[in-house]
Amino acid sequence: MASYLATGCSRGLELALVARLATLPKTEVGTILATARQDHSPQLTEIASTSSGRLQIVKLHVTDESSVKEAVAVVERQLQVKGLDYLVNNAGVSDWSPTGLEGMDNLNEMFNINATGTHLVSRLPATSVQRRQESNNQHVRTAGGN
Ligand SMILES: NC(=O)c1ccc[n+]([C@@H]2O[C@H](COP(=O)([O-])OP(=O)(O)OC[C@H]3O[C@@H](n4cnc5c(N)ncnc54)[C@H](OP(=O)(O)O)[C@@H]3O)[C@@H](O)[C@H]2O)c1
Repeated sequence: MASYLATGCSRGLELALVARLATLPKTEVGTILATARQDHSPQLTEIASTSSGRLQIVKLHVTDESSVKEAVAVVERQLQVKGLDYLVNNAGVSDWSPTGLEGMDNLNEMFNINATGTHLVSRLPATSVQRRQESNNQHVRTAGGN
């Protein structure tokens, strides 16, 4: 049974993904570590409370290095030697400027969340897709940050 760490699960695509994962047989999906930067998602809380402990919410702000380290420590405790099978780097933002390039003033902020945040989460040993070379460890990134 595979373990998952998914970022940005408070709403949107990733909330839908972890909701689906939590319905799959335990022989296929084991621990689901669903991260959110705030405790403000009633839907995620509801999924966790009905998952018999399979889905756990981990607080994570992907641009805050100390938050990433704290979350990774939780991941290490939860998975121990078994390691992580799937990392889904979904937390991200997309935006557009109605006035084109001239009005675009948040490029650094977007880059920080979509690219640097993904890097911070991916590079630590507990989440590294290279750590378990003998396994089918997979890294998925949503399109916004690439
Ligand atoms: N929806 C689409 O059609 C589509 C298409 C292509 C690519 N994408 C990309 O896929 C990703 C998810 O899309 P979505 O539609 O599900 O977006 P969404 O509904 O806006 O959800 C974004 C998620 O990212 C989280 N997040 C944002 N900044 C964060 C940060 N600094 N630290 C931790 N979490 C953070 C949000 O948390 P909060 O609730 O705390 O804000 C939320 O959980 C985005 O990167 C988007 O660009 C989406």
